Order: sequence, then C-alpha cells, then structure tokens
Amino acid sequence: MDTHEHLEYGTFEATLERSRLLEKDILENPTKHKLLTGDRPTGRLHVGHLFGSLQNRVRLHKLGVPTFIVIADYQVLTDRDTYESIAENVLQLTIDYIAAGIDPHDGKTFIFPHSHVPELNQLLLPFLTLVTMAELDRNPTVKEEIAAAGLTRINAGMYTYPVHQAADILFCKGTVVPVGKDQLPHLELTRTIARRFNNRFAEHKPVFPEPQPLLSEAPIILGLDGSQKMSKSRNNAIMLSADEDETARLIKRAKTDSERRITFDPTNRPEVSNLVMLAALSTGRKPEEIAEEIGDGGGGKLKQVVTESLNEYLRPLRARRKELEQNLDYVRDVLRQGVAAAREEAIQTLNEVREVMNMTL
Ligand code: TRP
Repeated sequence: MDTHEHLEYGTFEATLERSRLLEKDILENPTKHKLLTGDRPTGRLHVGHLFGSLQNRVRLHKLGVPTFIVIADYQVLTDRDTYESIAENVLQLTIDYIAAGIDPHDGKTFIFPHSHVPELNQLLLPFLTLVTMAELDRNPTVKEEIAAAGLTRINAGMYTYPVHQAADILFCKGTVVPVGKDQLPHLELTRTIARRFNNRFAEHKPVFPEPQPLLSEAPIILGLDGSQKMSKSRNNAIMLSADEDETARLIKRAKTDSERRITFDPTNRPEVSNLVMLAALSTGRKPEEIAEEIGDGGGGKLKQVVTESLNEYLRPLRARRKELEQNLDYVRDVLRQGVAAAREEAIQTLNEVREVMNMTL
C-alpha cells in the first residue's frame, strides 16, 4: 500500500475557498452533483442543528441536488450505550428532517439507516485495507471524542468509524458532503480512500469520485447559557419539538448581561448577541437592525422579541412535526423507501468494486 502518501488536512481557509467555488457550481449545475449527509441518531434535533446545518441541507435539496441522508445507527454505538433508544431516535430524526422541509417524495431524496444496507457495510472491508493503524490513531476528531466521552476502554469501532463513514459517502458515489469543521478529517480520509482505491485497483477507470466538503457559513448557535455550543447533553438547547410555552420559559431563563442597551457584539457580549442572532435568523433580518430596534429595552424586551420570532418561525415546522408523530407508519415507509434506493446504489457499486478487485465469479 501507498503509505508514504500522508493524509493532508490542508488549511481551513483553503477548504473554505474551495467550498465557495463548489457552492457556485452547485447553484449552476445542481443535478451534476450528488449530496450525501448524515447524522448519528442521538435524539431529537434542536434549534442549533436547524440554523447550523439542517437549513443549509434543505436549501441545497430544494435546488434539486440528488440527496442521500444517512442515519448512522452503527456509528452511534462507538461512543455511547444507547441501543435501547436507537429505533425511537431514528424515527424522531426522520420526523425532524421532514418537518424542516426535506421532501422524501421528490424522487431524488432518500433517508435511510446504514444498518439496513448490507452492501454499503461490506465496502468497509476493502476500505480497511487501504489505511494504516497509525492514520486511524492520528484522527483529531476521534481523539477529541474519546476525550469528551471520557472513554477508558476504547472499542475498535471508535477508531474505524471514519472508514465506515467513507463507505457511507462512497457507496452512492457522493460528490458533495455538507459538513461542520469537526468532520473535515473524516472527509479527508474518505478522499484518500477513494484515491488509493482507484490507484490500486482501478487505475484506468476510476470507480470512486473524490467527494468535496461543503462548509456551512452559518454561525454557530450557542446554548441559552451563552458560553458553549447549543447541545441537548449540555442542557442549554431549545428542541424543535418543544412547544411555544416551553420555548418561552427556556428563553426567559437564558443568560444575558447587566448592560441595558442591546447591541450585537458577539466577541464582547456573547450571550446577548446569541439571542439577537436567533431573532435575526428567525425573521431573516440583520442582527444589527434587531439590536438597534430593541435599543434600551434591555434583556426583558430582547427575550420577548426572540420568543415571539422563534415561535412564529417554528410554528409550521412544529405543526408538521406533530402530524408526523401521529403517523409513524408513514415515517417508517419513508425509511423503507430510502433503504430500497440506497441498496440499489450500493449493490451496483459493490459489483464494480468486486469486478476491479478481481473477485467476480
Ligand atoms: N460522523 C457524523 C457526525 O457525527 C455522522 C455521519 C455518519 C456522517 N456518516 C456520515 C456525516 C456521512 C456525513 C456523511 O455527525
């Protein structure tokens, strides 16, 4: 194997620049691309997910880019022991996607749990032979996750899930992967695997494209404590499924500061600015404009504005969400159709893989 060629993470700025060019090309030629995104089924989604990544996916999806959404139900087992709630979490995640505007009936959008696509999972085996233990051991995101979960006995799935993620992306020859910064090492590994596979087995007729990351330029939404990223486990999140009163109560408890005049100044006033940003994202207006309007109204007025605008913005999504929760058979059906479409792609790709690897009977 080609182990002298090291993984190159490159600079963040260079990735951002490439990502902007890619964005332009997607706008011009949506059907030339294939979008692949995924989430671990850890529970319901919150407002941070919606403004941070989900909205961007919905936007790209509405441009007509063929889209596969992987629910990574095997991957979720690498750092937590939540198998009892996996089925429920998969359904809730799917409900959030559809409620947010992903249309699973446009004939080119598919949502599926990867555990149901055997041919996708089988790609893991040849892919594992294309990376070294040292490379897996160096992955910065895996290291952070091990530290964050405080794991002392680390299962091999933790080190190898990035290779499995390459199978998630390459099984359908995905070309564009909208991701946050933390996923860039995984995407770089996927590109390396695609390249090494082609070089080693398919020099004259490459099987896999090298997928590109599409970085979201959406701001990172802080939790209601204003000091860290919004996340359910940090107890600072507003879930999409929360009702209007609960949303009001949560925002009432949000941290602000002692200065009465409201301004938008994320560096010096992170708590207040995060609230202003939530109102801005909910209304499609500029945060500076909203801050100016509230002016000397103080934290009380700010919270009232955020609560009203967020509740209004989420109202249709929450109504769809409620309907879907009453109709789980429909949601399961969406997943079954997603699995069927994913399998078709995976079978085709695995056939090509076997062929170039000289394994056809
Ligand atoms: N690792 C991703 C996360 O933790 C989830 C994921 C699994 C994913 N497979 C993927 C993301 C494929 C993008 C593409 O959020």
